[in-house]
Amino acid sequence: MTNEQYIQQTKDVFAAVFPDAGTPRVFFAPGRVNLIGEHIDYNGGHVFPCALTLGTYAAAAARSDRKLRFYSENFKEDGVVECSLDDLKNDPAHGWANYAKAVVWSYAQHGYTLPAGFDVVCTGNLPAKSGLSSSASVEVVTGTLMAALFGLPVEQKENALLCQYAENRFIGVNCGIMDQFSSAKGKKDHALFLNTATLDCQTVPLDLSGRRLIIVNTNVKHELASSAYNDRRGACEEALADIRKVRPIGALCELSPQDFDAVKGAIRREAALKRARHAVTEEARTVQAVDCLQRGDLAAFGRLMNGSHESLKNDFEVSCAELDVLAETAQTLQGVLGARMTGGGFGGCTVNIVEEDAVPAFIETLGRIYTEKTGLTASFYTAAAGDGAHECI
Ligand code: GLA
Repeated sequence: MTNEQYIQQTKDVFAAVFPDAGTPRVFFAPGRVNLIGEHIDYNGGHVFPCALTLGTYAAAAARSDRKLRFYSENFKEDGVVECSLDDLKNDPAHGWANYAKAVVWSYAQHGYTLPAGFDVVCTGNLPAKSGLSSSASVEVVTGTLMAALFGLPVEQKENALLCQYAENRFIGVNCGIMDQFSSAKGKKDHALFLNTATLDCQTVPLDLSGRRLIIVNTNVKHELASSAYNDRRGACEEALADIRKVRPIGALCELSPQDFDAVKGAIRREAALKRARHAVTEEARTVQAVDCLQRGDLAAFGRLMNGSHESLKNDFEVSCAELDVLAETAQTLQGVLGARMTGGGFGGCTVNIVEEDAVPAFIETLGRIYTEKTGLTASFYTAAAGDGAHECI
């Protein structure tokens, strides 16, 4: 379906589900794929994601009372979720709508209280639970529609921060800023070189000169994902606290790999040391990778992606058998410059840079080997970098 068809579909579903509501306005917020810089957005590091052209569409209209009504075409089984502006609690029975409620709550916590509720219908073309930030896109589109419908003076950068707060405090996942920031501030045909310590962001043309960015979905999401995420973040904080006894640093990613070698003896627990080593080496790889891309050295960029995967597998331990089959097999295939898991890990997707004419064989061979080794079927998407959240006019 084209963008226009998605917009029309979202309006049509809105009219069918909420026949009594006003005429909706339609908004979009994308998912993201991270090219490199994984699990360092909470360690003061640099990340290098791009927003996708896939994401969440939302048709929304303000109400005159204090009710909120949510419906998603992707979670029909959840039906219409209803609650009041005065009763915003995380309710497991509300499924996906908790992400939207979280944002209403976060805005209120920061003084943006709404004068009335709203009705919203979401549709989207991002696979859920794929590590491509479908939940961040729901959050960011919710903030975007609230600011527009109620005239709130919230720019996209602040929207991203308010959505991160929603995820941290309402959902309970201690995520960094990368996903919400990419969804809010993405730029067509560009990747974002984001300093997560300062939120300085440089947009870098994603010029792959004849190569394609291919996302491969394992189609698995292991259940431990959010508890393991918080555990990894805790281990990084533990390593930082240990290092601070010998060196006054603000965040792990301030250390070069050489500096790290000099102070790592202060880290008491082996697991914390490995997590910190990933953070430090991933930061170095990311800064180098962006330089390689800007110089047009895609082969070096790809090698850094492969190194990132290895570090996420062995030091950070957030990969899984399915991701390893996809990434490690891809790395051996003809025409593949680099392959790595992307996002939080424990399932979800890999990101690959593949020579254009090698793409059909890549899909055929990798798909076949993945099924042979896991009994599962992988999905393949050609990624294009798209714009951040906006109203669809
Ligand atoms: C998840 C989080 C992000 C980031 C990545 C790993 O997507 O939401 O903040 O930490 O994992 O890089």
